[in-house]
Amino acid sequence: MRGKLLQLLMRTSNTFVSGQEISENLGISRTAVWKHIEELRKNGYELEAVPRKGYRLTHTPNHATADEIEAILSTENIGKNIIYKKEVTSTQALAHDMARNDASEGTLVVADYQQKGKGRLGREWHSPPGTGLWFSLILRPDIPPQKAPQLTLLTAVAVTEGINKAAGIEAQIKWPNDILIDGKKTAGILTEMQSEPDRVQAVIVGIGININQQPEHFPELLLSKATSLSIAKENKIFSRAKVIAAILERYEDWYYQYLIDGFEQVRKRWEELAVTIGKEITATTVTKTVEGLAQGITEDGVLLLKKKDGQIEHIYSADIH
Ligand code: BTN
Repeated sequence: MRGKLLQLLMRTSNTFVSGQEISENLGISRTAVWKHIEELRKNGYELEAVPRKGYRLTHTPNHATADEIEAILSTENIGKNIIYKKEVTSTQALAHDMARNDASEGTLVVADYQQKGKGRLGREWHSPPGTGLWFSLILRPDIPPQKAPQLTLLTAVAVTEGINKAAGIEAQIKWPNDILIDGKKTAGILTEMQSEPDRVQAVIVGIGININQQPEHFPELLLSKATSLSIAKENKIFSRAKVIAAILERYEDWYYQYLIDGFEQVRKRWEELAVTIGKEITATTVTKTVEGLAQGITEDGVLLLKKKDGQIEHIYSADIH
């Protein structure tokens, strides 16, 4: 409800809107309107209130709170149920718990700060407050478990297109699922699954995006490898809610198209957006290092590497350079 109120205030932010109009528009009492306005103020929104004129929104804090996302999101399902936390151990862990407790498809868990953000391969994901987007989506696709990795590639496509749309930046994908700007990582994806032997119960897609960090926000070790949308765009500060909304909108389009038509369109788009394909690369797996020409990906997202001797190596999991 507060999201709807915010939407109305955002639409009318250059004029006043009366308490009566709000109450009629949203079908709630004048007292309820006043309570929601007070709650918005507590959350950092600034509103001018003038007797007999009404309210006018004068400042929106740059938070990707549930209210703010709800106010601008135009999806039907993805992100329609939003759980926002100021601080959390990991949105991924919370989303897992919620999925076990029957949370519906499209539920979004988003946090301003993660104490222990989880990255791929057991790494930690640096998730400081006030800067980036740290969120997990709960999906319940009717697919066999072995197809779940396709969703990682779909996610990379949706995130890349969302960044492009919201920030006007040409991001690219590095296999398997890093999103790069100017060769540095700006977003990472962690896909995990709850499943029975032949059926997926839930897929938890975790997405971390560096949005407004400046170089001093990154630990020394990350500085040479990581970037943010802001660094890539001359220190412009982006609305985190607008970026997440753009990504969720691209996500909804791709996800429901995938459930109907299958993976082929996603695969094609992934290859178009990937930096890796057509390049000579080195893949370091847990057991070996392989050099070759990255030729493309299979239906399961496995990277095909053509070695000097002409043999094709299937790379399932690796760091690539
Ligand atoms: C990677 O290693 O590249 C994947 C990083 C995924 C980080 C995101 S942030 C939101 C979600 N919660 C987590 O703890 N991890 C994922």
